[in-house]
Amino acid sequence: MAKKPKQKLTSVVKNNLLMLGKIAKHTPSYFVLMILEGVIWGFIHSVVSLFNFKLLNAIDSTADFLYAAKIIAVMAGFYILAYAFDRWYWVIKNPLLRRKLHLSMHEELFRKALSLDLACFDDPEFYNDFVWAMNESDRRATEVIEDTGKLINRLVSSATLFGLLLSIDYVIAIMIFSCAAITAVCSHIGNRVSFNHSKETNSLWRKKSYINRVYHLSDYAKELRTHRADELLMREYDENTEQIVKSDKKYGIKYFLLYGLGWNTIGHITFFAVIVYTVILLGRGDIMVGGFAASVSVVFNLRWLLVDLVERITKYGKHSLYIEKYNQFMHFEPAVVGEITDIPEFESLEFRGVSFSYEFSSHPKYKFHDENYTPPKTEGAKEALKNINLKIGAREKIAIVGYNGAGKTTLIKLIMRLYDPTEGEILYNGINIKKFEPSAYRKKIGTVFQDFKIFATSIAENVMNGAYSESDADTVIDALRTTDFTEKLEKLDAGINTHLTREFNDSGTNLSGGEAQKIAIARAFSRDYPIVIMDEPSSALDPLAEYKLNQSILHSTDGKTVIFISHRLSTTRIADKIYMFDTGSLVEEGSHTELLSKNGKYAEMFRVQSEKYQLV
Ligand SMILES: Nc1ncnc2c1ncn2[C@@H]1O[C@H](COP(=O)(O)OP(=O)(O)OP(=O)(O)O)[C@@H](O)[C@H]1O
Ligand SMILES: [Mg+2]
Repeated sequence: MAKKPKQKLTSVVKNNLLMLGKIAKHTPSYFVLMILEGVIWGFIHSVVSLFNFKLLNAIDSTADFLYAAKIIAVMAGFYILAYAFDRWYWVIKNPLLRRKLHLSMHEELFRKALSLDLACFDDPEFYNDFVWAMNESDRRATEVIEDTGKLINRLVSSATLFGLLLSIDYVIAIMIFSCAAITAVCSHIGNRVSFNHSKETNSLWRKKSYINRVYHLSDYAKELRTHRADELLMREYDENTEQIVKSDKKYGIKYFLLYGLGWNTIGHITFFAVIVYTVILLGRGDIMVGGFAASVSVVFNLRWLLVDLVERITKYGKHSLYIEKYNQFMHFEPAVVGEITDIPEFESLEFRGVSFSYEFSSHPKYKFHDENYTPPKTEGAKEALKNINLKIGAREKIAIVGYNGAGKTTLIKLIMRLYDPTEGEILYNGINIKKFEPSAYRKKIGTVFQDFKIFATSIAENVMNGAYSESDADTVIDALRTTDFTEKLEKLDAGINTHLTREFNDSGTNLSGGEAQKIAIARAFSRDYPIVIMDEPSSALDPLAEYKLNQSILHSTDGKTVIFISHRLSTTRIADKIYMFDTGSLVEEGSHTELLSKNGKYAEMFRVQSEKYQLV
């Protein structure tokens, strides 16, 4: 259950002002026009009562036609102009400004998301907050500015009407204020309840949207049809929906007691008490019929305005809770950082006593609300890599082998500095890689991950990782030749401009698993990377394609350092040095012949594989 959030008034004001400042920075005209709209609507709401009051008095007392005509003319002019501005603003200007603000804020969020450590994505609590910030922030920003416009509107209206009411009778004013105070308390409690409600159901909605995705994304369509996963998913979906309904029911009762019975009843009692009181005043002759009519209309208007004003003000408390999280997220400082941007030419890469545990890396030290957190000791945490020591020199061809879960991909993630080691250090030319600015350092390494992703864009952009211009065409074609994609490319009418996937484009091309892998591998050859790392580059390739790929990789990486992971030991034979991993430890190292003569784990793995091949 979510902890009951506590907030100081100063932080509510500070947070909301911060958000308003952000909006003014992103879209200054949205900020100015919303305030202007608030003032104009404030008058539209209240001037009608003033107008009635003045007009009735004029008719009742002097019946001065010219005076009454002047009031009508001023009112007509004001209403025509004010409504013209209002329609222009809401129909034309506001949707554009909103869109502009959303785009600008999302761009800022995307950049922030990219700067986050990968470990953040392994931490479900952080991930929850991150998804929330992505989905909620722009909506909140719009609400804060539009609520501010409405707040100004209510303040202008109620101040005008309250002045009018005071001139009639001050007791009515006191009655209305008492009602507003009780309403404020109810609203305040209501905001807390609603925050807890969304906190409680947040993870349930996330699960629901995951299952939705599984059913509508083409990536899952095949698996769903061939396996029985749908039964499990359906069951989970039902259970999840049941929990959401249960939570909604529980909170529904709370909302009913607070809003339905609480402030609604009190509001109506006050309203009728004021009517009874003004009737008594009228009976006693303390007010005239004109004053009675105006005050009843003011009471009705003012009651609604004050209730709404209090609602708006308490909404700032709710906004503040969200803005607080958003700000913490935006101010989250990634742990994977470094100063040096000028990365020297590659000479060596060394692991010195490196251990790594995912459990430890995703520990709350990464949570943005825990700045001063001291991580606990690693004992008990399962280590994906244990005390690794190895050194790779320039131009070496290295193969990493081992059974599933041995820690091979983890090793690559550490080299790429997607995570920092829990213990020990990784040295590039003898310098700890933590000293290098991560994106500058990563530019030295061309990597193909085991779980690579193809983006819904052209082949060329996929190969160049987005940064494609026409002058890169030859580079793309060469890179695709290296990965033996040329034959397929010749069959595509649009060549390297062929759009991949049908997600956004009816004429898009869906590739086979092996073809897609060739595109992913080509990325490693799209730039002159001194180090090329490939995690299972040939897992989806047929034996002939694999043979061709190995030959062309060898040829194209002449003079480069290559680290490749493969389960097929027939391909690792070509490596200068092989590192064999077993459950997180480096157990053997040497050339293929050395390891075979050692007759250890590698030799055993090789024997099993060659027996299988002979059987076929
Ligand atoms: N994001 C993660 N969070 C927690 N544990 C993880 C994560 N990724 C991997 N692991 C764990 O770390 C260990 C090593 O995984 P790794 O992916 O490095 O293995 P691998 O040798 O590449 O295996 P494979 O041959 O199947 O690709 C495994 O026990 C795995 O469960
Ligand atoms: Mg792996």
